[in-house]
Amino acid sequence: MNTAPSPSDRPLSHALSHTPVLAAEVVAALAPAPGRVIVDGTLGGAGHTRLLLEAGASVIGIDQDPYALNRAREAQLPQLTVLEGNYRDMRELLARIGVTQVDGVLLDIGVSSFQLDDAARGFSYHTDAPLDMRMAQSGESAAEVVNGYPEEELAAIIYEYGEERHSRRIARAIVQARTQAPIQSTVQLAEIIKRAYPGFSKGIHPARRTFQALRIHVNDELGALRDGLRAAEALLAPGGRLAVIAFHSLEDRIVKRFLRASSTLKPLTKRPVEASEEERGRNPRARSAKLRAAEKVAASEGLPEVEV
Ligand SMILES: C[S@@+](CC[C@H](N)C(=O)[O-])C[C@H]1O[C@@H](n2cnc3c(N)ncnc32)[C@H](O)[C@@H]1O
Repeated sequence: MNTAPSPSDRPLSHALSHTPVLAAEVVAALAPAPGRVIVDGTLGGAGHTRLLLEAGASVIGIDQDPYALNRAREAQLPQLTVLEGNYRDMRELLARIGVTQVDGVLLDIGVSSFQLDDAARGFSYHTDAPLDMRMAQSGESAAEVVNGYPEEELAAIIYEYGEERHSRRIARAIVQARTQAPIQSTVQLAEIIKRAYPGFSKGIHPARRTFQALRIHVNDELGALRDGLRAAEALLAPGGRLAVIAFHSLEDRIVKRFLRASSTLKPLTKRPVEASEEERGRNPRARSAKLRAAEKVAASEGLPEVEV
């Protein structure tokens, strides 16, 4: 099993600065102002949080990544309360500090550029590192999934979360390779996938979809999103705003269907907001970002369960 070093063993290698995606659009959607309390469920490098604080709001920042939390605590931003945990549990986390209603919730989902750039976290197939991919430093690592799951299950994960049409072939290659030796590192896995891949799709690394799939599975990202949306809906006061930035179609579909089924959240725009040409040019991560925002119009009693 690969174990990442504990946060206290590692230097605060990045300053607390992060280029937030769709920054102006998020601020417009959440309408931060003095007296308003906003939950940033994906604090990360605190890029969005800083803007919300600058507009006078109080922010409760949640992250499951101890490294992100360390950076945020070090920065000692006024009006920011930092909580460790999964945003899917935001109601319980907030209840512990006596907060039962808020005026805004932001979810900027997925991994941060800090996590991607930190080779040791094992998210990237470009740099060699232990196959980890856990945002929180707990639970099953990608190495445990890759070395322990049956072929059928691996293929299903790669197909469903990676939308990879060669999922069966890749799963077979993984299972064959691990009979020789355990698959321990990112580059080792990327090479196995590359060898199994029938021809290269233009511009897309053959391992990209499989790595995305493993990351989503290891962190139960879609389950967290479903739970987080429900929790946000329940927490928002009437007039409160929800803003969610999704980075791929699986996530955006969940948000879209959730808002469609909700009787208390009224979308602020008909279509998702996307980054301007200027932002796309400046920040490649913005190219796939889709922002959906909604306003709470009534109490959320008796909501139907949402199938997504
Ligand atoms: C894309 S980054 C957020 C960047 C942030 N908006 C900024 O401007 O700096 C996503 C962050 O959310 C965290 N995260 C992702 N899923 C989470 C979850 N289910 N619960 C708590 N934190 C989560 C990650 O650890 C990461 O730090």
